[in-house]
Amino acid sequence: MHICRSKKELEGVLASIAPDSKLGFVPTMGALHEGHLRLVKEAQQRCDAVIASIFVNPTQFGEGEDLARYPRQEEADAALLEAEDVTVLYLPDAGDIYPDGVRADVTPHAMSKVMEGVFRPQFFAGVCTVVKRLFEHVKPDMAFFGEKDFQQLWIIKQMVEEFSLPIGIVAVPTQREVSGLALSSRNQYLTDAERKTARTLYAALKNVVEVVMAEESPPDACCKLAKARLLDVGFEVVDYIEYRREDTLELLDRFQPGGRLFAAAWLGGTRLIDNLAVR
Ligand code: PAJ
Repeated sequence: MHICRSKKELEGVLASIAPDSKLGFVPTMGALHEGHLRLVKEAQQRCDAVIASIFVNPTQFGEGEDLARYPRQEEADAALLEAEDVTVLYLPDAGDIYPDGVRADVTPHAMSKVMEGVFRPQFFAGVCTVVKRLFEHVKPDMAFFGEKDFQQLWIIKQMVEEFSLPIGIVAVPTQREVSGLALSSRNQYLTDAERKTARTLYAALKNVVEVVMAEESPPDACCKLAKARLLDVGFEVVDYIEYRREDTLELLDRFQPGGRLFAAAWLGGTRLIDNLAVR
Protein backbone atom coordinates (compact mmCIF):
# COMPACT_ATOMS: atom_id res chain seq x y z
CA MET A 1 0.00 0.00 0.00
CA HIS A 2 1.35 3.41 -0.95
CA ILE A 3 1.01 6.02 1.77
CA CYS A 4 0.83 9.54 0.33
CA ARG A 5 1.14 12.46 2.73
CA SER A 6 0.76 15.21 0.14
CA LYS A 7 -1.11 15.97 -3.06
CA LYS A 8 2.20 15.86 -4.92
CA GLU A 9 3.04 12.36 -3.67
CA LEU A 10 -0.47 11.24 -4.56
CA GLU A 11 -0.11 12.56 -8.10
CA GLY A 12 3.13 10.58 -8.48
CA VAL A 13 1.53 7.34 -7.34
CA LEU A 14 -1.64 7.86 -9.40
CA ALA A 15 0.52 8.32 -12.49
CA SER A 16 1.96 4.82 -11.91
CA ILE A 17 -1.48 3.16 -11.94
CA ALA A 18 -2.56 1.86 -15.37
CA PRO A 19 -4.60 4.65 -17.00
CA ASP A 20 -7.57 2.43 -17.83
CA SER A 21 -7.89 1.17 -14.22
CA LYS A 22 -11.20 1.85 -12.57
CA LEU A 23 -10.43 3.83 -9.40
CA GLY A 24 -12.62 3.47 -6.32
CA PHE A 25 -12.39 6.07 -3.56
CA VAL A 26 -13.35 5.82 0.13
CA PRO A 27 -13.01 9.15 1.97
CA THR A 28 -12.93 8.92 5.78
CA MET A 29 -11.91 10.79 8.90
CA GLY A 30 -10.16 7.70 10.29
CA ALA A 31 -10.68 5.77 13.54
CA LEU A 32 -11.69 3.04 11.15
CA HIS A 33 -14.18 0.29 11.99
CA GLU A 34 -16.09 -2.42 10.11
CA GLY A 35 -18.44 0.21 8.66
CA HIS A 36 -15.58 1.92 6.85
CA LEU A 37 -14.13 -1.45 5.84
CA ARG A 38 -17.48 -2.43 4.30
CA LEU A 39 -17.08 0.56 1.96
CA VAL A 40 -13.54 -0.57 1.13
CA LYS A 41 -14.74 -4.12 0.39
CA GLU A 42 -17.50 -2.80 -1.86
CA ALA A 43 -14.92 -0.65 -3.67
CA GLN A 44 -12.62 -3.67 -4.06
CA GLN A 45 -15.42 -5.62 -5.70
CA ARG A 46 -16.29 -2.93 -8.19
CA CYS A 47 -12.94 -1.31 -8.98
CA ASP A 48 -9.38 -2.19 -10.06
CA ALA A 49 -7.64 -0.03 -7.47
CA VAL A 50 -8.92 1.42 -4.20
CA ILE A 51 -7.82 4.70 -2.69
CA ALA A 52 -8.79 5.53 0.88
CA SER A 53 -8.24 8.88 2.54
CA ILE A 54 -8.06 9.95 6.16
CA PHE A 55 -8.48 13.64 6.89
CA VAL A 56 -10.17 15.07 9.97
CA ASN A 57 -11.77 17.97 8.18
CA PRO A 58 -11.85 21.12 10.34
CA THR A 59 -14.47 22.98 8.30
CA GLN A 60 -17.24 20.48 9.03
CA PHE A 61 -16.88 20.87 12.80
CA GLY A 62 -18.65 23.71 14.58
CA GLU A 63 -17.51 25.77 17.51
CA GLY A 64 -17.55 23.60 20.65
CA GLU A 65 -17.77 20.34 18.67
CA ASP A 66 -15.28 17.47 18.95
CA LEU A 67 -12.59 18.45 16.39
CA ALA A 68 -9.76 18.49 18.97
CA ARG A 69 -10.72 15.19 20.58
CA TYR A 70 -11.79 13.35 17.42
CA PRO A 71 -9.97 9.97 17.62
CA ARG A 72 -6.74 9.83 15.62
CA GLN A 73 -5.13 6.39 15.20
CA GLU A 74 -3.23 6.51 11.97
CA GLU A 75 -1.08 3.42 12.43
CA ALA A 76 -3.94 1.09 13.33
CA ASP A 77 -6.00 2.55 10.46
CA ALA A 78 -3.17 2.00 7.97
CA ALA A 79 -2.83 -1.63 9.10
CA LEU A 80 -6.56 -2.23 8.60
CA LEU A 81 -6.47 -0.74 5.10
CA GLU A 82 -3.34 -2.66 4.19
CA ALA A 83 -5.07 -5.90 5.26
CA GLU A 84 -7.91 -5.00 2.86
CA ASP A 85 -5.39 -4.66 0.04
CA VAL A 86 -6.00 -0.96 -0.47
CA THR A 87 -3.71 0.45 -3.17
CA VAL A 88 -3.23 3.98 -1.83
CA LEU A 89 -3.83 5.63 1.53
CA TYR A 90 -4.02 9.41 1.11
CA LEU A 91 -3.28 11.44 4.24
CA PRO A 92 -3.34 15.04 3.05
CA ASP A 93 -2.60 17.87 5.41
CA ALA A 94 -4.73 20.97 5.74
CA GLY A 95 -2.43 22.92 3.40
CA ASP A 96 -3.16 20.47 0.56
CA ILE A 97 -6.91 20.64 1.02
CA TYR A 98 -7.12 24.33 1.94
CA PRO A 99 -4.22 26.12 0.18
CA ASP A 100 -6.12 29.43 0.32
CA GLY A 101 -7.17 29.22 3.96
CA VAL A 102 -9.25 26.82 6.00
CA ARG A 103 -12.78 27.69 4.95
CA ALA A 104 -15.70 26.06 3.19
CA ASP A 105 -16.56 27.49 -0.22
CA VAL A 106 -19.06 25.04 -1.66
CA THR A 107 -22.74 25.80 -1.11
CA PRO A 108 -24.61 22.58 -0.48
CA HIS A 109 -28.13 21.75 -1.68
CA ALA A 110 -30.95 23.49 0.25
CA MET A 111 -31.82 20.18 1.93
CA SER A 112 -28.60 20.70 3.90
CA LYS A 113 -30.67 23.01 6.10
CA VAL A 114 -32.92 20.28 7.53
CA MET A 115 -32.12 17.60 10.13
CA GLU A 116 -28.32 17.66 10.64
CA GLY A 117 -28.18 21.15 9.17
CA VAL A 118 -30.44 22.57 11.89
CA PHE A 119 -28.07 21.41 14.61
CA ARG A 120 -24.76 21.59 12.72
CA PRO A 121 -25.23 24.58 10.37
CA GLN A 122 -21.63 24.52 9.07
CA PHE A 123 -21.51 20.77 8.54
CA PHE A 124 -22.58 20.19 4.93
CA ALA A 125 -20.67 23.14 3.46
CA GLY A 126 -17.56 21.70 5.14
CA VAL A 127 -18.30 18.18 3.92
CA CYS A 128 -19.03 19.27 0.35
CA THR A 129 -15.89 21.42 0.22
CA VAL A 130 -13.56 18.67 1.44
CA VAL A 131 -15.17 15.94 -0.66
CA LYS A 132 -14.97 18.10 -3.79
CA ARG A 133 -11.27 18.85 -3.14
CA LEU A 134 -10.54 15.18 -2.46
CA PHE A 135 -12.37 14.22 -5.67
CA GLU A 136 -10.21 16.76 -7.56
CA HIS A 137 -7.04 15.22 -6.11
CA VAL A 138 -7.95 11.54 -6.45
CA LYS A 139 -10.07 11.74 -9.66
CA PRO A 140 -11.89 8.48 -8.91
CA ASP A 141 -14.40 6.74 -11.18
CA MET A 142 -16.52 5.74 -8.20
CA ALA A 143 -16.76 6.92 -4.60
CA PHE A 144 -18.35 5.02 -1.71
CA PHE A 145 -20.44 6.49 1.12
CA GLY A 146 -22.38 4.90 3.98
CA GLU A 147 -26.13 5.08 4.48
CA LYS A 148 -25.35 5.59 8.17
CA ASP A 149 -24.91 9.25 7.18
CA PHE A 150 -27.86 9.20 4.79
CA GLN A 151 -28.31 12.95 4.50
CA GLN A 152 -24.57 13.38 3.80
CA LEU A 153 -24.74 10.72 1.08
CA TRP A 154 -27.77 12.47 -0.45
CA ILE A 155 -26.15 15.94 -0.35
CA ILE A 156 -22.97 14.57 -1.97
CA LYS A 157 -25.01 12.96 -4.76
CA GLN A 158 -26.62 16.37 -5.37
CA MET A 159 -23.21 18.06 -5.45
CA VAL A 160 -21.89 15.56 -7.98
CA GLU A 161 -24.92 16.29 -10.16
CA GLU A 162 -24.68 20.06 -9.75
CA PHE A 163 -21.01 20.18 -10.80
CA SER A 164 -21.46 17.36 -13.39
CA LEU A 165 -18.59 15.44 -11.79
CA PRO A 166 -17.86 12.20 -13.71
CA ILE A 167 -17.99 10.07 -10.54
CA GLY A 168 -20.46 7.33 -9.62
CA ILE A 169 -21.62 7.58 -6.02
CA VAL A 170 -22.26 4.19 -4.44
CA ALA A 171 -24.40 3.88 -1.28
CA VAL A 172 -23.38 1.19 1.21
CA PRO A 173 -25.81 -0.11 3.88
CA THR A 174 -25.17 0.71 7.54
CA GLN A 175 -22.99 -1.80 9.40
CA ARG A 176 -24.22 -2.52 12.91
CA GLU A 177 -23.17 -4.34 16.05
CA VAL A 178 -25.27 -7.41 16.88
CA SER A 179 -27.21 -5.12 19.25
CA GLY A 180 -28.18 -2.98 16.27
CA LEU A 181 -25.96 -0.05 17.27
CA ALA A 182 -24.62 1.53 14.08
CA LEU A 183 -20.81 1.45 14.06
CA SER A 184 -19.32 4.91 14.41
CA SER A 185 -15.92 6.38 15.26
CA ARG A 186 -17.71 8.47 17.89
CA ASN A 187 -18.89 5.32 19.76
CA GLN A 188 -15.36 5.40 21.27
CA TYR A 189 -16.50 8.34 23.40
CA LEU A 190 -19.20 6.30 25.15
CA THR A 191 -18.76 5.10 28.73
CA ASP A 192 -19.87 1.51 29.44
CA ALA A 193 -23.19 2.73 30.82
CA GLU A 194 -23.78 5.01 27.83
CA ARG A 195 -22.90 2.21 25.42
CA LYS A 196 -25.60 0.07 27.02
CA THR A 197 -28.15 2.80 26.37
CA ALA A 198 -26.78 3.44 22.87
CA ARG A 199 -27.40 -0.21 22.05
CA THR A 200 -31.12 0.28 22.62
CA LEU A 201 -31.47 3.07 20.04
CA TYR A 202 -32.02 1.02 16.90
CA ALA A 203 -34.28 -1.55 18.55
CA ALA A 204 -36.34 1.22 20.14
CA LEU A 205 -36.86 2.94 16.78
CA LYS A 206 -37.85 -0.33 15.12
CA ASN A 207 -40.20 -1.24 17.94
CA VAL A 208 -41.94 2.14 17.92
CA VAL A 209 -42.40 1.89 14.16
CA GLU A 210 -44.05 -1.53 14.56
CA VAL A 211 -46.39 -0.32 17.29
CA VAL A 212 -47.41 2.83 15.43
CA MET A 213 -47.91 1.06 12.11
CA ALA A 214 -50.00 -1.67 13.78
CA GLU A 215 -52.39 0.97 15.13
CA GLU A 216 -52.34 2.74 11.74
CA SER A 217 -51.25 6.03 13.22
CA PRO A 218 -49.31 8.52 11.07
CA PRO A 219 -45.52 9.06 11.07
CA ASP A 220 -45.94 12.11 13.29
CA ALA A 221 -47.18 9.86 16.12
CA CYS A 222 -44.22 7.58 15.51
CA CYS A 223 -41.74 10.46 15.80
CA LYS A 224 -43.34 11.72 19.02
CA LEU A 225 -43.48 8.27 20.58
CA ALA A 226 -39.89 7.49 19.54
CA LYS A 227 -38.69 10.73 21.10
CA ALA A 228 -40.48 9.94 24.37
CA ARG A 229 -39.08 6.40 24.32
CA LEU A 230 -35.48 7.56 23.80
CA LEU A 231 -35.75 10.10 26.61
CA ASP A 232 -37.23 7.36 28.75
CA VAL A 233 -34.36 4.91 28.19
CA GLY A 234 -31.75 7.52 29.07
CA PHE A 235 -30.92 9.70 26.07
CA GLU A 236 -30.61 13.22 27.45
CA VAL A 237 -31.62 15.20 24.38
CA VAL A 238 -33.27 14.16 21.13
CA ASP A 239 -32.28 16.62 18.39
CA TYR A 240 -34.81 15.27 15.88
CA ILE A 241 -36.81 12.28 14.79
CA GLU A 242 -38.31 12.74 11.34
CA TYR A 243 -39.88 10.63 8.62
CA ARG A 244 -38.82 11.71 5.13
CA ARG A 245 -38.61 10.55 1.52
CA GLU A 246 -35.31 8.89 0.66
CA ASP A 247 -35.19 10.36 -2.83
CA THR A 248 -35.98 14.01 -2.02
CA LEU A 249 -35.60 14.20 1.77
CA GLU A 250 -39.01 15.89 1.95
CA LEU A 251 -41.14 15.29 5.04
CA LEU A 252 -43.87 12.67 4.69
CA ASP A 253 -47.16 12.60 6.57
CA ARG A 254 -48.02 9.01 5.62
CA PHE A 255 -45.98 5.83 5.78
CA GLN A 256 -45.10 4.81 2.25
CA PRO A 257 -42.55 3.01 0.09
CA GLY A 258 -39.33 4.99 -0.07
CA GLY A 259 -39.82 6.45 3.41
CA ARG A 260 -37.06 6.58 6.01
CA LEU A 261 -36.98 7.44 9.70
CA PHE A 262 -34.07 9.66 10.79
CA ALA A 263 -32.91 10.23 14.36
CA ALA A 264 -30.24 12.14 16.27
CA ALA A 265 -29.86 12.00 20.03
CA TRP A 266 -27.33 12.75 22.74
CA LEU A 267 -25.80 10.50 25.40
CA GLY A 268 -23.46 12.41 27.69
CA GLY A 269 -21.23 14.41 25.38
CA THR A 270 -21.78 12.07 22.43
CA ARG A 271 -24.20 12.67 19.60
CA LEU A 272 -25.50 9.56 17.82
CA ILE A 273 -27.34 9.50 14.51
CA ASP A 274 -29.15 6.66 12.81
CA ASN A 275 -31.79 6.02 10.17
CA LEU A 276 -33.85 3.12 8.87
CA ALA A 277 -36.08 2.41 5.92
CA VAL A 278 -39.74 2.36 7.03
CA ARG A 279 -42.32 1.59 4.38
P1 PAJ B 1 -16.46 9.20 8.55
O1 PAJ B 1 -17.40 9.47 9.66
O2 PAJ B 1 -15.09 8.69 8.86
O3 PAJ B 1 -17.16 8.19 7.58
C1 PAJ B 1 -16.56 7.83 6.37
C2 PAJ B 1 -17.56 7.02 5.56
O4 PAJ B 1 -17.89 5.83 6.27
C3 PAJ B 1 -18.88 7.78 5.34
O5 PAJ B 1 -19.33 7.55 4.01
C4 PAJ B 1 -19.81 7.13 6.36
O6 PAJ B 1 -21.18 7.18 6.01
C5 PAJ B 1 -19.30 5.70 6.33
N1 PAJ B 1 -19.70 4.98 7.56
C6 PAJ B 1 -19.47 5.35 8.84
N2 PAJ B 1 -20.04 4.46 9.69
C7 PAJ B 1 -20.65 3.53 8.92
C8 PAJ B 1 -21.42 2.36 9.20
N3 PAJ B 1 -21.68 1.97 10.43
N4 PAJ B 1 -21.88 1.64 8.15
C9 PAJ B 1 -21.63 2.02 6.88
N5 PAJ B 1 -20.91 3.12 6.55
C10 PAJ B 1 -20.42 3.86 7.55
O7 PAJ B 1 -18.39 10.81 6.94
C11 PAJ B 1 -17.26 11.25 7.09
O8 PAJ B 1 -16.24 10.54 7.69
C12 PAJ B 1 -16.85 12.64 6.61
O9 PAJ B 1 -17.95 13.50 6.71
C13 PAJ B 1 -16.27 12.63 5.17
C14 PAJ B 1 -17.30 12.16 4.14
C15 PAJ B 1 -15.01 11.76 5.10
C16 PAJ B 1 -15.87 14.09 4.79
O10 PAJ B 1 -14.96 14.61 5.71
